[in-house]
Amino acid sequence: MLETEFIWHNGKLVPWKEATVHVMTHGLHYGSSIFEGIRVYDTSGGPAFLCLGRHLKRLYDSAKIYRMEMPMGIEEMTAICHQVITANKLKAAYVRPLAYRGYGTLTVYGTPDPAEVSVAAFPWGAYLGEEAMEKGVDVGVSSWTRLAPNTLPTMAKAGGNYLSSQLISMEAHRHGYVEGIGLDATGNISEGAGENLFVVREGIIHTPPISAAILPGITRDITIDLARRLGYEVREENLPREILYVAEEVFMTGTATEVVPVRTVDGIEVGAGSRGPVTAALQKAFFGLFDGTTEDTKGWLEPVEV
Ligand SMILES: Cc1ncc(COP(=O)(O)O)c(C=O)c1O
Repeated sequence: MLETEFIWHNGKLVPWKEATVHVMTHGLHYGSSIFEGIRVYDTSGGPAFLCLGRHLKRLYDSAKIYRMEMPMGIEEMTAICHQVITANKLKAAYVRPLAYRGYGTLTVYGTPDPAEVSVAAFPWGAYLGEEAMEKGVDVGVSSWTRLAPNTLPTMAKAGGNYLSSQLISMEAHRHGYVEGIGLDATGNISEGAGENLFVVREGIIHTPPISAAILPGITRDITIDLARRLGYEVREENLPREILYVAEEVFMTGTATEVVPVRTVDGIEVGAGSRGPVTAALQKAFFGLFDGTTEDTKGWLEPVEV
């Protein structure tokens, strides 16, 4: 991790190394944290957040699902995110707001106190590697099923959910894959350990619905919007595992991952075994948002306030 100078922690900017917690912190024991991952891009119009408002809305939705009281409103949180970027003089960054049940009691139901909050930002390149953007990645379907309905809510981006992601991702790496794909409790495709998944078949783009134990990804929404703008039909529907083997293209989306082609699944080549034309068109449209070649018709970019 590339350390920056300051992290905002419980009310003020502190030096990176001083943003620490007590070992008896509730969130550390029980996974009771919620967080976001947001990117700032160095765009042709200067540094800008991508969908800051939507990410913070999801953070506050996660807090609501877990009845976690946030010590500040969304407006203040927005200002803090801007402050962290400017204080660290960052032009491009990955921003990580985090809220967690703090120090006080170890009762499982948690503390009634407001959550403790931090916001860090640091430079982070392509999550799955630069080469992956063009050549694609090798992925494997995991033996670990994603969270079943009525167990843990996947609409919340909560720390505890990432134990599922860790099992899926660790197994994938053990088998030599870059990433793992989880199936939902019914056996249909859910998502990657840290990405949403898309399949192109007979020219139509398909992606699992939010009922398939996915995190409702913001890059997923952007991609669906851009794809429709480019004239593609996009369907949100349940998908069987084997469509991954017979699809023309498979790709994954996420804030850290961006838009990445998948070239093999379980050792089987997807399409021609390299990035397909639909994925390439969507990557072009996505990255075009930052050099101005794709019009930001929805106001997704929010310039960093200097
Ligand atoms: C499990 C999981 N699914 C999907 C995504 C993609 O979501 P987003 O595009 O909002 O980053 C992420 C990224 O954080 C994730 O962790």
